[in-house]
Amino acid sequence: MPSQPFSISAAREQLLAAAPPGWAAAGTPLLAVVLGSGLGALGERIESASAIEYDRIAGLAKSTAIGHRGEFRIGWFGGVRMLAMAGRLHAYEGHDIETLTRPMALMTACRPDAVVVSCAAGGLNPRFQTGDLVLIDEHLSLLRGQIGAGSLGAGSLGAGSPSGPRSGLRSGFATCDEPFAEIAVQTSREAGFRLHRGTYLAVTGPNYETRAECRMMRNWGMDLVGMSTVPEVVLASRAGMRTLAIGVVTNMAVPDSPATASHEEVIAVSMDAGVNLEKIVGAIAHSLAPKTGNLIDERD
Ligand code: HPA
Repeated sequence: MPSQPFSISAAREQLLAAAPPGWAAAGTPLLAVVLGSGLGALGERIESASAIEYDRIAGLAKSTAIGHRGEFRIGWFGGVRMLAMAGRLHAYEGHDIETLTRPMALMTACRPDAVVVSCAAGGLNPRFQTGDLVLIDEHLSLLRGQIGAGSLGAGSLGAGSPSGPRSGLRSGFATCDEPFAEIAVQTSREAGFRLHRGTYLAVTGPNYETRAECRMMRNWGMDLVGMSTVPEVVLASRAGMRTLAIGVVTNMAVPDSPATASHEEVIAVSMDAGVNLEKIVGAIAHSLAPKTGNLIDERD
């Protein structure tokens, strides 16, 4: 799908104009989140929220995936400002990587203090169960059938990095912010839900995997499979943001199970697991929130 012209500064102005009164000028920390398939409930909990659909911003495409609202929600959550992508754009909707990462590029242009990306995913690791959460600490992308930064769009090389073929993408480049990961682990222990760490494989979809594909992916050492997340996380991380990606195991993608996943099942499981995701996001918000005894409500 050919993408429309996109000016990040014009888009940022349109986004900020849609924000609730006082939001843009407020000095409180900013937490940006991406709410994946069926995980939109958190978006409804944002206080004093306003919303703007992606395609009302010049250069952004409309979201067509089921379970994805396709709008920014802007407000306050857990004592910080929140900017949420309720739903995302996918390669299987016909977008190239540059187009589908525009909403994230726009969020990073607002310079958030943290970016939390969530997604529904199939569990390849047989130790996982549906409803579990997984901190994505490594990833592999086969979006567009290619491996490497070239397949992830211009943002993936990072500002100022040399554009040569070996420019620094390998060792030492971690997208998982360890202090945030520690907060997530602590939250899961306190609340008593299952949280793992694992490697996420991004594929184009939109179909779920054949058994042969599941077997191959597991042999590659992958723990989760999904159709998103990697381009967004790489873009935000390369732009210097602290990032955390969390997958919700909505179905098991184990080769010899007779079960096949349906999109409805995926949405139902992620809506339940969304409660635990919200606890983690709340704890990260709390870690960023100003620690003064008498908080001033900037909405007044
Ligand atoms: N495969 C790919 N993407 C997914 C899956 C899956 O099994 N579940 C949720 N998103």
